[in-house]
Amino acid sequence: MRTLCLDIGGTGIKALILGQGGEPASERLRVPTPKPATPAAVLDAIAGLVAPLGVFERVAVGFPGVVIAGTIRSAPNLGPGWTGFDLAAALAERLGQPVRVANDAGVQGLGVIEGSGTEVVLTLGTGMGFGLYVDGIYVPNIEMAHHPYNGELTYEQLVSDRALHEVGAAAWEERVQAVVAQLRPILNWRRLYLGGGNARLLDAGRFAADVALVDNAAGLMGGWKLWADRP
Ligand code: BGC
Repeated sequence: MRTLCLDIGGTGIKALILGQGGEPASERLRVPTPKPATPAAVLDAIAGLVAPLGVFERVAVGFPGVVIAGTIRSAPNLGPGWTGFDLAAALAERLGQPVRVANDAGVQGLGVIEGSGTEVVLTLGTGMGFGLYVDGIYVPNIEMAHHPYNGELTYEQLVSDRALHEVGAAAWEERVQAVVAQLRPILNWRRLYLGGGNARLLDAGRFAADVALVDNAAGLMGGWKLWADRP
């Protein structure tokens, strides 16, 4: 049973096939996210991306917005046309295999959590992703990104990729530290994971022992867990 894992991001779309035990069974491929990233353009990009990867029997997708039962409710960093779009059904028709879709940060976290107590994932990429897990159960679609951080900025406006380029890496890192400090007494996690493409810019030594930096490749590995109830 081979699972095609897709990670749709605001900047790139990544694909990897995982084998029976969740191990990588193909190379990891990436294409730039089309602009504008409409549903039709993204479906075309995915079809082209996965063509060389070989056979798979099911598909797991991380999507950068709110996803409820396979249907998209928001896509703040993609193009127009997503709200109400049944991505799971459209992709299943296009790829000829069953598809499960969840929020991208939620999927990323499934690939890194230990499965005990309260664990939180923040992804730092085009946007800011957030995932909460209680004893390994994912609590979906908490959109911390768009919650006000202070009277002026949301969390995402503070630490997005755009903000990184506006304020520079050093000031951005201070902002990430401030976000962690603000969330810590609210969420009381056992462990916090920082992932996403820009997490590699952070100095792991500056965080407390309950904070771990994780490889962005986990974004794809977690897709296997979306199908964990069907070995
Ligand atoms: C979206 C989230 C998403 C995050 C990372 C935010 O703008 O609202 O749903 O997880 O970006 O892609």
